[in-house]
Amino acid sequence: MIPFNKPHLTGKEAHYMYQAVNDGKLSGNGKFTKQCQHFLEERYGFKKCLLTTSCTDALEMAAILCDVRPGDEVIVPSYTFVSSALAFVRQGAKIVFADSMKRNPNLDAESLEALITPKTKVIVPVHYAGVACDMDRIMEIAEKYHLLVVEDAAQAIDSCYKGRPLGTIGHLSAFSFHETKNIISGEGGMLGINDARFIRRAEIIWEKGTNRAEFFRGEVNKYGWCDIGSSFLPSEIIAAFLWAQLEEMETIQAKRKELWNMYFELLTTLENRGLFKLPDLPDYATNNAHMFYLVCNSLEERTALIKTLKEHDIMAVFHYLSLHSSEYYKDKHDGRPLSECDRYADCLVRLPMYFDLSMAEVKTICDVIGSCL
Ligand SMILES: Cc1ncc(COP(=O)(O)O)c(C=O)c1O
Repeated sequence: MIPFNKPHLTGKEAHYMYQAVNDGKLSGNGKFTKQCQHFLEERYGFKKCLLTTSCTDALEMAAILCDVRPGDEVIVPSYTFVSSALAFVRQGAKIVFADSMKRNPNLDAESLEALITPKTKVIVPVHYAGVACDMDRIMEIAEKYHLLVVEDAAQAIDSCYKGRPLGTIGHLSAFSFHETKNIISGEGGMLGINDARFIRRAEIIWEKGTNRAEFFRGEVNKYGWCDIGSSFLPSEIIAAFLWAQLEEMETIQAKRKELWNMYFELLTTLENRGLFKLPDLPDYATNNAHMFYLVCNSLEERTALIKTLKEHDIMAVFHYLSLHSSEYYKDKHDGRPLSECDRYADCLVRLPMYFDLSMAEVKTICDVIGSCL
């Protein structure tokens, strides 16, 4: 059986987790947490990184930092994971859903301005499959209307927009280290901070509304309750696991890109026969090989493809359901049809993609696709 995903272990995870245990420092914000944050700050150029227990938590921190309140509007693509919207809904925001582009599932920056009202506070571009949204256009619009931008970079580690790492362009950003991502810690995430005015408050929100981080740095002689917050920081055991993955980032990325390129090459002939569309990367975007997807011509064709692959023991899966027509939000949505989003919800299929997938398996998968279309 070829599963859809298989978490990759570099081999050092248990070693570093044992080290954390042996050091006697198990709670958060210790040596491994600092090491991971420093690595990510240096590699990508964030003003500050804070590890979190998930990308969802990082998005919740971002929603608090943006001071989102009841009545505020937040623009989010409808083709995304629930958390991109949920984090802001928890603060009382109304979500104004944006449609995807024709060429890829990212939100259409050209349609953004029409969604802005005097109540708009935040734009949440989601870099689907690690492929950049048009960030220059989004930041230009945000500046014009004095809005904040929170990049949902859950899938976008090590990917760039015009040479700039994703997650470093908006005011804030959120990454995921869930076991389905390129770099993993089981559950895990990170808040990226690019606007220095958010750093102090972010640390307080991260540490249950207290200034404990300042106390441990010796900047204050006691710590106390300063703000709202939660326990957003992971334990050292999780950070130790993550460190083993970050150390092997180059190897992980190189192998994934090799697999992605092989899929792309082998499936190009079938795309030329009009059987489906392959991922379309704009010139401004790099590829971090997070995901390999096809867009079929109809829901029926996608269902048939998934079924045939399953009959050959290959697990391919569809992705998001449109959030604007979800059970929770459909009655709150303003009723605009979002046809591109619905098309991706019906027609997009993701193929197996993980470090330990072999080139031979990619060839088998492509052969099965070729034989059934
Ligand atoms: C775009 C997007 N945002 C947020 C999340 C939530 O990530 P996590 O599971 O780390 O909370 C996901 C999860 O896959 C995602 O795809």
